[in-house]
Amino acid sequence: MTSNRFWQLNRRPEGSDVSGALSLETEAVPDIGAGEVLVKCAWLSMDAGTRMWMTEREDGYQPPLELGTRMVGLVLGHVARSNDPQFAEGDLVRGFGQWAEYAVVQPELAGLMKVDDQIPDIRQHFGVLGFNGWTALWGIRETAAVKAGDNVLVSAAAGSTGLLACQVAKILGANVHGLAGGPDKCRWLEQELGITRAIDYKNADVAAELAKVDGGIDAYFDNVGGPILDAVLPNMAMHGRIALCGLLAQYQGDGRGRGPEHFDQILMKRLRIEGFFSPDFMDQGAELTIQLAKWHDQGLIDTPFDVTDGIGNVLTAYEKLFTGGNIGKVLVKI
Ligand SMILES: NC(=O)c1ccc[n+]([C@@H]2O[C@H](COP(=O)([O-])OP(=O)(O)OC[C@H]3O[C@@H](n4cnc5c(N)ncnc54)[C@H](OP(=O)(O)O)[C@@H]3O)[C@@H](O)[C@H]2O)c1
Repeated sequence: MTSNRFWQLNRRPEGSDVSGALSLETEAVPDIGAGEVLVKCAWLSMDAGTRMWMTEREDGYQPPLELGTRMVGLVLGHVARSNDPQFAEGDLVRGFGQWAEYAVVQPELAGLMKVDDQIPDIRQHFGVLGFNGWTALWGIRETAAVKAGDNVLVSAAAGSTGLLACQVAKILGANVHGLAGGPDKCRWLEQELGITRAIDYKNADVAAELAKVDGGIDAYFDNVGGPILDAVLPNMAMHGRIALCGLLAQYQGDGRGRGPEHFDQILMKRLRIEGFFSPDFMDQGAELTIQLAKWHDQGLIDTPFDVTDGIGNVLTAYEKLFTGGNIGKVLVKI
């Protein structure tokens, strides 16, 4: 291939109008500078948190992307050219690149790493063995300190991070409750993933359903914040823990949300709420991958993939994260 197509961010999107803010551009396959690596992307990972980078907020966990530059995202592919002695042509690598057919990366900034190209399905480097897997394991085991017998609740439970969090909690011996949009997802969570109970937050009274959990919720793995957190707080158990993984309910606004309605419950129930962010535990990645790979080999944990074909269809795939069109990891095949 001599040309490269990539998505460019032209303005800050308003609400769900992401497509009006980006354009698909074509150029010659780019040259690389000193220390850089050119990755021929095989798979692009769609991640809900990247929506925040499109806004202009300066106090997020990542600086805003500059307008007129390429949209940044995680890529998995083979090294096409390398000016870094640690990476050779043909290596399978994963890291932050661009929504593009060819991504130019500065390895250290991009967190570029070589990954095993001998596993049966390399997509698992974005699934069980990827950052969503690491996030699920860290959030459940370290941040929420889940133990056998706990009542665990996970929001966005049929999404990529949530379904892995459900499985990790289940492996640790917890009773797992999940929140997801629609009866199909809830059926899937109970029948395929084998969680204790799924609640359809779009059609049920979440607070009333959670009130039925005997003993209350010991640990909540929160992917969304917003009104669901309002429904959860009064239903937490004494000394409960909330691992704040994401705030999906507010990513399409300016990123800021009001505080939880039942803030008082943090004191009344002596709760601990802690945010956690995957770049903070990247140095633990090898250990996390070994544990996740072991469980995967034992058939205890898996990820379904929601695949969209072609760089031109990236926005269709991305939209699913916000409309709930996916079960599992949303990927674009290049
Ligand atoms: N802290 C970290 O290091 C870290 C790392 C990775 C991901 N995350 C966070 O994990 C969360 C999930 O991201 P992901 O990329 O894995 O996406 P995902 O879970 O695969 O997809 C997002 C899902 O969220 C649900 N959703 C969307 N808007 C919602 C809303 N307003 N209220 C309730 N549910 C909503 C949708 O399912 P329904 O049909 O159920 O609505 C959708 O399928 C995000 O908050 C992300 O920022 C955090």
